[in-house]
Amino acid sequence: MWLGDLFLRLGLKGILLLVFVILLLVGFLKKRNPPNFPPGPLALPFVGNVFSIDTKQPHIYLTKLADVYGNVFCMRLGRDKTVFVSGYKMVKEAIVTQAENFPDRPYSPMASRLYSGNSAGLFFSNGQVWKRQRRFAMTTLRNFGLGMSSMEQTICEESHHLQEGMERERGEPFNPTHLFNNAVSNIICQMVFGRRFDYSDHNFQAMLKSLTEMVYLEGSIWAQLYDAFPVLMKHLPGPHNEIFSKFKSLEAFIGGEIERHKLDLDPSDPRDYIDAFLIELEKHKGNPETGFYERNLVLCCMDLFLAGTETTSKTLQWGLIYLIKYPHIQDKVQAEIDRVIGQSCRPTMADRPNMPYTDAVIHEVQRMGNIVPLNGLRMAVKDTTLDGYFIPKGTALMPNLTSVLFDKNEWETPDTFNPGHFLNADGKFVRKEAFLPFSAGKRTCLGEGLARTELFLFFITLLKKFRFSAPDGEELSTDGIIGATRSPQPFNIYAKAR
Ligand code: HEM
Repeated sequence: MWLGDLFLRLGLKGILLLVFVILLLVGFLKKRNPPNFPPGPLALPFVGNVFSIDTKQPHIYLTKLADVYGNVFCMRLGRDKTVFVSGYKMVKEAIVTQAENFPDRPYSPMASRLYSGNSAGLFFSNGQVWKRQRRFAMTTLRNFGLGMSSMEQTICEESHHLQEGMERERGEPFNPTHLFNNAVSNIICQMVFGRRFDYSDHNFQAMLKSLTEMVYLEGSIWAQLYDAFPVLMKHLPGPHNEIFSKFKSLEAFIGGEIERHKLDLDPSDPRDYIDAFLIELEKHKGNPETGFYERNLVLCCMDLFLAGTETTSKTLQWGLIYLIKYPHIQDKVQAEIDRVIGQSCRPTMADRPNMPYTDAVIHEVQRMGNIVPLNGLRMAVKDTTLDGYFIPKGTALMPNLTSVLFDKNEWETPDTFNPGHFLNADGKFVRKEAFLPFSAGKRTCLGEGLARTELFLFFITLLKKFRFSAPDGEELSTDGIIGATRSPQPFNIYAKAR
């Protein structure tokens, strides 16, 4: 009765206003921070801080915010709060010293829809399944050559295909992106699918294109909006829908590879990661908590294919850009290659200790290239404190890698390309603790060893063979395009045989 009276008194507009005020109040009470929670910019009702982030350079915006709020601050992106951690010392405290407190990934509506149900691959899985699958992936990649001379041989053979691809440009300017994507991807493809793809394979090129576009969109505002407002975004048109369609086409491609393997699988002689997984899957039938079931095989392959292609290829692209920008550094690298390896021999990882300058240049390319400008999200699995602030169980945490790779307290000239960061006064290579492009702690990049081997061998083989330069009058940009990874702007180069 009283509801009817209220309706008559307030009218429709009044009722709507009342509902809105109640929602605001409930929202405010629900979102209220616990005592001693990290500070942060004022968040708007419902949307939080999602629209205040600079979508073109979010990593720089978030790094600068630490100057205002300190190295541990909080933002609310839609419904959920994320604590951002900045600077080498605090990031190390969170992901290394407190590794036990932040081993998991938080729930993501987008990942949950992509990965469907309780399958989570390698990147998004947690708990026992993640531990088991991470260990299995690392052991299997090792069994199929990682860290052995056979893998070095494979990379060197692929470098020759890459060289031939560059030679086919006949000294004309060209964009090397698709050659690098194909070459780098072929290494992980050989370990996971047991085969490489020709640079003229149109299907595979289409796959790589989908992958690049998907990785870009996954790091864009569209993915953030989806994770912040999943119910709304699910029904709205927009580029976020392409993430799902591209994911489906990559899934179909991987599914095809798995079916091909089943046709001639020999359990006594696994050829690659898929074979090894299918054999384990038989052993663990009826025991899905191990993560050995077919849907998870597709997702684990997807993670390896995705993470194993984009990151390393983009680092190589940044490498060419910096060496073209600083030709005197290219001269010094080539002089070292000629001195240590010469023109006739094939480079191996055993050469690396004798090539401190080249090693330092590759490290500096990784630092300035800043390929994963933010990081993988983490989640607190128990109540803890960080920098004196209370972080309740379940809070999402972003250990910002840009703030580490450009930390003013750790690098002499943080914003300038300077291989000297990794050399001592005698020209010997020195490790830097704040060099964390692969992150650190329990979730540290699973492919670090593979990526480092690829970077060294691909760089050396190409620089041994070619002198790289920009087309006349063109200045190559070092501004990146930000997605889940940081890509160079489209660019053209000359590769002239030395
Ligand atoms: C230059 C190349 C690479 C860079 C800079 C890089 C960087 C990263 C970063 C920053 C993370 C997130 C770690 C975290 O959340 O703390 C990561 C995770 C991961 N990376 Fe890489 N990565 C590279 C190459 C590779 C390669 C070649 C592979 C393939 C074998 C790979 C596979 C993975 C996987 C599977 C994860 C998820 C690990 C987990 O959640 O346990 N990455 N990588």
